[in-house]
Amino acid sequence: MERRHFIRIAGGGVVVAATAGAFAGCSGFGIPASATAAWQPPPNDMDIRRFVLSYALLAPNPHNRQPWIADLSDPEAISLRVDRARLLPETDPFSRQIVMGCGAFVELLRLAATARGYYSEITLFPDGAPSDTLDDRPFARVTLTQSPGVQPDLLFRSALKRRTDRREYDSTRPVATADVLVLQSTVQTAPLQFGVVGQSGNTDDGRVAAIRLVTNDAWRAELITERTMLESMHLLRVGSAEIDEHRDGIVITSPMLVTLKRLGLFSTTTFPAPDSKGTVSQLAKFDAASASTRSYLWLATEGNSREQQLLAGRAYARLNLMGASLGLVMHPNSQALQEYAEVSAQRAAIHTLLQVPAPQFTVQMLARVGYPAAGSDEEGPAPRRGLAAHLHEGPRPRV
Ligand SMILES: Cc1cc2nc3c(=O)[nH]c(=O)nc-3n(C[C@H](O)[C@H](O)[C@H](O)COP(=O)(O)O)c2cc1C
Repeated sequence: MERRHFIRIAGGGVVVAATAGAFAGCSGFGIPASATAAWQPPPNDMDIRRFVLSYALLAPNPHNRQPWIADLSDPEAISLRVDRARLLPETDPFSRQIVMGCGAFVELLRLAATARGYYSEITLFPDGAPSDTLDDRPFARVTLTQSPGVQPDLLFRSALKRRTDRREYDSTRPVATADVLVLQSTVQTAPLQFGVVGQSGNTDDGRVAAIRLVTNDAWRAELITERTMLESMHLLRVGSAEIDEHRDGIVITSPMLVTLKRLGLFSTTTFPAPDSKGTVSQLAKFDAASASTRSYLWLATEGNSREQQLLAGRAYARLNLMGASLGLVMHPNSQALQEYAEVSAQRAAIHTLLQVPAPQFTVQMLARVGYPAAGSDEEGPAPRRGLAAHLHEGPRPRV
């Protein structure tokens, strides 16, 4: 007999839903190929500015907002600014993470340029850096020059296979110390601190367990706080049609949720009760992923300037790419680093656990890192909006 679940829905009602198996053969749940078309390599003879931007937009970035605008009105340069309609004001109130995503974008751009023998001259915040609130001034200006001395950067090889992997990892394997050393080598010239808690030579089980607890706690705080939870819920793209329409945000492919949404029984605009089935199962899923984690990677800066945030984003992109080439999987756990009141205790705890005292230091990135669980498939690519969505070719906006 078919198993059934009772699902408590927004508004307090209860519906009976069949198991996922009952949806087998139905369509419209998965990520359509059109939403990930940007992961196909661009032609090698494409105009160099468009070529490098086609790779840059594959950068990791918070909530997959892809908030990047590339201004090509000066034929000699690319001017990059943030699309301020794509910020995360509740979970990222100072846009620190958004700026990190901009750093990751710049790094992918630079790597792609090397693949075609171009050197990138990058000026960060050429018209000055914003303070707490972002504005329309560029976060970078890039000029590309072909030079016989530029060799393809090895990290570029992973540009199309880099992923964020939120699944459970192999719980028997902390990251090998040899792999930590390779990761370290990709960021060693950057003025920031990098570390991995839990590695084969020093499993540091106590500290790994403590980080797990703090990240689980911060995740819970985000889900049970109405304004932060709703910020994410507004970015849920539920089922193939919505995923294809937006090509950003948080993708939901669960047949059950897609069906409930279609039936009008799952709302992305109503705050679910902390004890709702959806919230409880999300917490359980996150806890299970944490429980499978033997290693956490972190980046910290002494200070927290906009340039340092960009630098940290560039460094994370490099680590994620190098990880992909080593067979490592990564998943940022940013909840405990966020700057809203309900997670201030978790934020303080992470700084203490990593021995980088705040406010002198800012932990810019904390990520699960490990090896895929036995038998897990390769993680698929996340949607991208594609090059045209990022291009601005007209006159520059007034600041
Ligand atoms: C600064 C920063 C913070 C992030 N924080 C989280 C996070 O807390 N949880 C998460 O699942 N993914 C996080 N991510 C990963 C993004 O969600 C991911 O890059 C985006 O969805 C695109 O997917 P992709 O990396 O597979 O291309 C973060 C990425 C960046 C750059």
